[in-house]
Amino acid sequence: MKHTPSLDAHWMPFTANRQFKQNPYLISRAEGAYLYDQHGRKLFDSLSGLWCCGLGHTRTEITQAVAEQMGRLDYSPGFQVGHELSFELANRLIEKTPIGLNKVFFTCSGSEAADTALKMARAYWRMVGQPTKTRFIGRGKGYHGVNFGGLSVGGIGSNRKLYGNLLDADHLNHTWLAENAFSRGLPTYGAHLADELEEIVALNDASNIAAVIVEPFAGSGGVIVPPQGYLKRLREICTKHNILLIFDEVITGFYRTGQCFGSQTFEVMPDMINVAKGLTNAAIPQGAVIAHEKIYNAFMEANLPLHAIEFPHGYTYSAHPVACAAGIAAMQLYDSEQIEAKVNDLIPYFENALHQLKGLPHLEDLRNCGLAGAIQLAARNGDGTIRPREVFEYCWQQGLYVRYGGNNISLAPPFIAEKSEIDQMFNILADAIRQLK
Ligand SMILES: Cc1ncc(COP(=O)(O)O)c(C=O)c1O
Repeated sequence: MKHTPSLDAHWMPFTANRQFKQNPYLISRAEGAYLYDQHGRKLFDSLSGLWCCGLGHTRTEITQAVAEQMGRLDYSPGFQVGHELSFELANRLIEKTPIGLNKVFFTCSGSEAADTALKMARAYWRMVGQPTKTRFIGRGKGYHGVNFGGLSVGGIGSNRKLYGNLLDADHLNHTWLAENAFSRGLPTYGAHLADELEEIVALNDASNIAAVIVEPFAGSGGVIVPPQGYLKRLREICTKHNILLIFDEVITGFYRTGQCFGSQTFEVMPDMINVAKGLTNAAIPQGAVIAHEKIYNAFMEANLPLHAIEFPHGYTYSAHPVACAAGIAAMQLYDSEQIEAKVNDLIPYFENALHQLKGLPHLEDLRNCGLAGAIQLAARNGDGTIRPREVFEYCWQQGLYVRYGGNNISLAPPFIAEKSEIDQMFNILADAIRQLK
């Protein structure tokens, strides 16, 4: 049997390191909708990795594209020179985006996409002669990664509290309302929450505000669903005050909501869409900001000499050729496997199965949006995080990987899941909740 290395040296991300190292949950391989732990236990992957492997794991088409690309061009400098794959992937992406959102800036992660979009927004306003528009507005329970920009607009207090001063930002309230608990899909009540944006504008003046950034539904915050009409209202207010609207679609992008982007599902046109995760089905890290052409054009039309760099920003690994190869293979699979139709077939089934849990003990809420949902559990002894952890431990023993965070279990099964696997997932979850104290 393979020897397990010492666990001391790796300081793990977003992990209770001491707890993990006492009792490690190690995954050694994956295939399709399943992970396999170090003991060979088969686990249904109820969160598609971390919301990112909707097509399932170790897809041959992606693996082969990556292996071939590694052998042909493993890396290419991306500043002042380029390679064809990034253009091909960008072209494929903009076939899927709303009209006008057709300029793709590659990053290596969702966090980098967040900071890139924020910088792009500020620089845009300078390009069009409104340099005072620098302020950002995020939302409570929002997650835009862990870099300083994304953290500043993010709304998860525990992610922010250790790090001192962040960028100046205001936050809309999150859209979780107790009276909407156990809603199926988008609650009918709550669009008025978007009107808070008017108050923030009144406080700061639109001449000082660069952009509003929100996730169409807040994923990491626990699938906090937007009330019907809420996102449209945000768009209207942004338009009225000449503020850019950024949709962080790192989770909602690539079919999670039913259509390729949440902006299509919710029929709201942002000025930028951030993506990562599903862009390559997570096989190789990659993210992107997809900007409206008016933003790109503002940089290109600025009065700069031809040799000037219009947007001094980018990463060593921006548009990495291997990531681009993975991205192109993923785009092909989304189309050839008719993922949109598959997801739309699963959504009502998933919604029904989730809401069958109603009536079990300790439940505070069940909510869903597209092929994603959350089970919110009541705190025990004032600590909301204990029961979700116990559910995780129970499910693992029963062959189910679930993601727990705060007082929630979040679910986002792979798009390739069978309905019988959805049933099995909820059966195990129901047992796990029943045995909670
Ligand atoms: C909406 C959103 N934005 C940004 C990020 C950060 O992405 P990454 O972890 O790739 O930096 C995430 C990650 O979960 C996310 O859900």
